[in-house]
Amino acid sequence: MVPESNSSVIPQADHLTVFFASQTGNAESISRNIHEQAQERGFKSGHYVLNDHAKVDWEKEECLVFVVSTTGDGDPPDNSTKFWRHLRKLKGTGLTKAKYAILGLGDTNYDNFCQTAKRLDTKLQELGASPFYPRGLADDATGLEETVDPWIKNLWPALAHQVISAPTIHDLPQPHLTAEETKIVKEIIEHEHQKTALSPTLKSSAATNAIVKGSNAQPPSAPPVGSLTRSMDALSVTPPTAPPAPATGNTIRIDFSSMANHSNLTALPRVPNANLKITQLETTSTAGSSRRIVPSFIQSPTPLFSAKINSVQCLTPDDALKRTLLVEFGFDDDVEYAPGDSFGIWAPNDESLVRGVLATLGVKDEDLNKLVKLEGEGIPSHLQTVHSASLLDIFRYAVDLTTSTKKANIRLFADHATDLAEKQKLMFMSSKQGTELFNDLRAQSPTLLDILHTFSSVKIPVVRVIETLPPLQPRYYSITSSPMAKNGHHRWSCAFNVVQFELPVGVKRRGVCTPWLDDLSGKVSYGKPVTTGLSNIRVPMFIKPNETKFNLPVDTTKPVIMIGPGTGVAPFMGFLEHRAEQRKIKKRLVNIGSGSRQHLDDLFGEMWLFFGCRHRDRDWLFRQQMEEYQSDGVLTQLHLAVSREEDVPNSGKYVQDLIRRESKKVWDLLHEKGALIYVCGDAKGMARSVHDELVAVLVEHGGYEKMAAIMELNKWAQDKRYLRDLWA
Ligand SMILES: Cc1cc2nc3c(=O)[nH]c(=O)nc-3n(C[C@H](O)[C@H](O)[C@H](O)COP(=O)(O)OP(=O)(O)OC[C@H]3O[C@@H](n4cnc5c(N)ncnc54)[C@H](O)[C@@H]3O)c2cc1C
Ligand SMILES: NC(=O)c1ccc[n+]([C@@H]2O[C@H](COP(=O)([O-])OP(=O)(O)OC[C@H]3O[C@@H](n4cnc5c(N)ncnc54)[C@H](OP(=O)(O)O)[C@@H]3O)[C@@H](O)[C@H]2O)c1
Ligand SMILES: Cc1cc2nc3c(=O)[nH]c(=O)nc-3n(C[C@H](O)[C@H](O)[C@H](O)COP(=O)(O)O)c2cc1C
Repeated sequence: MVPESNSSVIPQADHLTVFFASQTGNAESISRNIHEQAQERGFKSGHYVLNDHAKVDWEKEECLVFVVSTTGDGDPPDNSTKFWRHLRKLKGTGLTKAKYAILGLGDTNYDNFCQTAKRLDTKLQELGASPFYPRGLADDATGLEETVDPWIKNLWPALAHQVISAPTIHDLPQPHLTAEETKIVKEIIEHEHQKTALSPTLKSSAATNAIVKGSNAQPPSAPPVGSLTRSMDALSVTPPTAPPAPATGNTIRIDFSSMANHSNLTALPRVPNANLKITQLETTSTAGSSRRIVPSFIQSPTPLFSAKINSVQCLTPDDALKRTLLVEFGFDDDVEYAPGDSFGIWAPNDESLVRGVLATLGVKDEDLNKLVKLEGEGIPSHLQTVHSASLLDIFRYAVDLTTSTKKANIRLFADHATDLAEKQKLMFMSSKQGTELFNDLRAQSPTLLDILHTFSSVKIPVVRVIETLPPLQPRYYSITSSPMAKNGHHRWSCAFNVVQFELPVGVKRRGVCTPWLDDLSGKVSYGKPVTTGLSNIRVPMFIKPNETKFNLPVDTTKPVIMIGPGTGVAPFMGFLEHRAEQRKIKKRLVNIGSGSRQHLDDLFGEMWLFFGCRHRDRDWLFRQQMEEYQSDGVLTQLHLAVSREEDVPNSGKYVQDLIRRESKKVWDLLHEKGALIYVCGDAKGMARSVHDELVAVLVEHGGYEKMAAIMELNKWAQDKRYLRDLWA
């Protein structure tokens, strides 16, 4: 639909191509929004993932818009790696015709903020293209919307100025409210002026319909037809048990008193188009079909397989701050991997949350397992493969029910609120004036159910919810074992903290994957590995080779410095097991006797580990293995930081303190023996402090100026000599 007041200045159907590269879905949905708005404004717009770059003739393109995120340690998303390989090969200035604009998504908790967008910008200019609009860099740490919304708002004038010769920027329409939005905002203002109470529920159904039927309102999903079969049993990862009771949701606490101070709402986000259609399938039976562990619509970057759980061990006693599990998975086929790789687990959303959401959306129990098909032009890529799945499975595996909501979604919920006071509140939070309250809402990390519970008059069709939610992501875990160890190609292990915490408002929250694995494996107690009672469990997973080469060097004589506090030590346990196996083989091959360890040590580079825990007796993960590796000569030096114990001999609070203490020896290892540095774990505090400490090492012992030291470390990062696997 073209907004009314725009019609007089619609550009003359010029062509626009919108590309995206996205790891977790943000860039995809933002770019789709741009594409849809472009179409509404009269542009012929194409929308492509960057890996599909060949579908467009770049040399002929005049107007390109890119929305790209950054992942890993300044790396491009997986769905653009093919494009980057292609781009690296391009030479010359073949893109002189092209004008472009780039919107980068990133997070300032990571050092290489929006690196993909910056690299793309540089490369496009090298190839002769020129930007027609300043680059936008949006920060997840403060909220993408802060940058994304104004960037999109000002894109249109810039684009029109660029593409259409006639109007100047000032002649062009600024993004504005649709007639529907204007009407609602007017109602809000009038309502304020009348100083009526804030929560009158509209009683008349005619009035309710008038408000609810917005431009995007849709009839509820198709009524059940035919005899549809259950798919749940075939897809369960554990034997079917009685389903849990649906969750009811928590009330989000927000003080709306400041709302009365605003009589004018601006910058209301655009509600995404309703493109998705849901069709109930006739009598499609999965009964008797082969046992799948996840629905077939799941798209996995590498082949998905089902792993057994061989053993589960709780590494931390009850008085530890975090509960850490070590899980060993087993599989029948040979799986190729290297230490430093990780694997992705497809965990479902919490079952009671799924059932709570579906019940709140009005889906009846008898319809939960009926099969439906999702279709529609331009629907998000994660929904394009849902050809036959139950609503239960769609809500279990396709959509994210727990990640922070966006203003556009709040705006959508406002459209569907049947109570005027709730509609006002939602509308207000989605506006510029309501940003503070929106942030209060986000601070409580509400699930979709909490929002629907708190704003209970929201009657939104299930199809709109599916289309608007971000995709559920797999969770990745670094492999703590080596393929060279006994049976190593048929098993691997990982270590993780079970994510469960309480918000300041007293609400308990759980992560998606780690509590699921904990529940599935029976919440084992602290102590020895448990191997019984696990035989029926299957976990869907896939291997994720480490694109950034966070693997041991091929040259085994190179020393390695490994820095990983907490579960950040996970990949290094794999490195150490691998090196232990390499040493065993070498020992056999060159027939080194038991007395010649020195000779063996000379054949392998030194391995140093900087590890950090809070209390040695509570969360010194892998203590026994570390000590054994040290006494066997595999681990040359172990530096232990202990953050919550006083006066620990030879220790410091954090790993960076120990790097400082050992700075001369660290420099010697780097300078004289060309050591590689590996950092793993928390991107927010640890990785940055470690980076600063490494800069200090180069300044103090290498004679570098501070800027030169930073540049040198950057070079080492490019040369894969300084490698980081980080998570914020
Ligand atoms: C390549 C790679 C390898 C990884 N390897 C490992 C590994 O070996 N071990 C490991 O443990 N993790 C690892 N991770 C992280 C892991 O993938 C998951 O992110 C993590 O286990 C949480 O998943 P979850 O589904 O349980 O929680 P989620 O559902 O993802 O919830 C986590 C979110 O909860 C919120 N949260 C958590 N704690 C709090 C709190 N106290 N207060 C407020 N909010 C909070 C945060 O927003 C956090 O992002 C790795 C990540 C990557 C990208
Ligand atoms: N490949 C990967 O990307 C990968 C692999 C494994 C783990 N991870 C992720 O990495 C993170 C590891 O954290 P964790 O929860 O296991 O660790 P943790 O238990 O929270 O902390 C481990 C130690 O680090 C200390 N610490 C806190 N702030 C620090 C800082 N700024 N600098 C240095 N040390 C600091 C803690 O001290 P105090 O609490 O006493 O301050 C504690 O002693 C998790 O988010 C995990 O998901 C990622
Ligand atoms: C594992 C991981 C690594 C990340 N690495 C970076 C990074 O190096 N630099 C950066 O600016 N942002 C980084 N981010 C933040 C993302 O770019 C940001 O969350 C963005 O909104 C994701 O967009 P997408 O959903 O389109 O992938 C990282 C996020 C994750 C989860």
